[in-house]
Amino acid sequence: MVKINIAIDGPSAAGKSTTAKRIAKALNYVHLDTGAMYRSVAYKAKNIGVDWNSEEDLVKMLQDTVITLTPQGEVFLDGVDVSKAIRENEISLGASSVSKHALVRKELVRRQQQMAEDKGFVMDGRDIGTVVLPNAEVKIFLTASAEKRAIRRYKENLEKGIESDLAVLIKEIELRDEQDRTRSASPLTQAEDAILFDSSDLTEEEVNVKLLEIIESVIKRNEV
Ligand code: DC
Repeated sequence: MVKINIAIDGPSAAGKSTTAKRIAKALNYVHLDTGAMYRSVAYKAKNIGVDWNSEEDLVKMLQDTVITLTPQGEVFLDGVDVSKAIRENEISLGASSVSKHALVRKELVRRQQQMAEDKGFVMDGRDIGTVVLPNAEVKIFLTASAEKRAIRRYKENLEKGIESDLAVLIKEIELRDEQDRTRSASPLTQAEDAILFDSSDLTEEEVNVKLLEIIESVIKRNEV
C-alpha cells in the first residue's frame, strides 16, 4: 500500500496528539508529536537554569541536547524518560515561550524533517503543514473552542492524577493561543491547502472516524 505523510496542526489541547496517535495506529504509521520537542527544550532549560527568553542560550543548550521520540509515544531527553514531566502546566507555558524563538524553531524543524524523511508519518504540531512538511499529502487543521479544549485537558489531567482548576486552564489555553498566533516566527496559521476540522461538538471517536475517512480517500487517490 502507498504511504503518505499526514500533517495535523491546530491550537493547544484540540486533541491533535490523541487523534494523530489513533490515526497512526490504524494505518500502521509512525506518530511524531513535535510539541513534545518544544516541551523538552523548556523542561531542560528550567532544570539547568537557562532563561526561556534567551534565544542564544537556548540554541547553545540545544547543541548538546538529544530528544528522542519513540514509536510507542515516549519522550527521552538526553536518555531520560520525561514523557510525564513535560506535561506539567508550567512546562506547557515554557514550551510556548521557547517556541517563539526563530533559531530554536529552525533547529527543531531541521530535526523533525530528518525524522520524517520517508513517508508513513503522522506529525502533529503548529507549523507542520506550513513549514515542516509543506508537501504532506493530507493536512488537517484541528480546532475546538477554548472552553471545550480546557474541559478535555481538565479530564486528561484527572486521569493522570494531576490536579487542575478549570478556570485557570481556560485562561492558560487562551494565553497560549495568543502567544502561538502572534509570534513572528512561524505563527500558528492554517495552511492554505489544509482541511479545517472543528471538533467542539464531536466525540473523540467521531473525530477519528471522520478524519480516517478523509485520509483513506487520499491514500486511495495516491494509489491510482
Ligand atoms: O502541542 P503542545 O501543546 O504539546 O505544544 C507545546 C507548545 O509548543 C505550544 O505552545 C506551541 C509549541 N509548538 C510549536 O510552536 N510548534 C510545533 N510544531 C509544536 C508545538
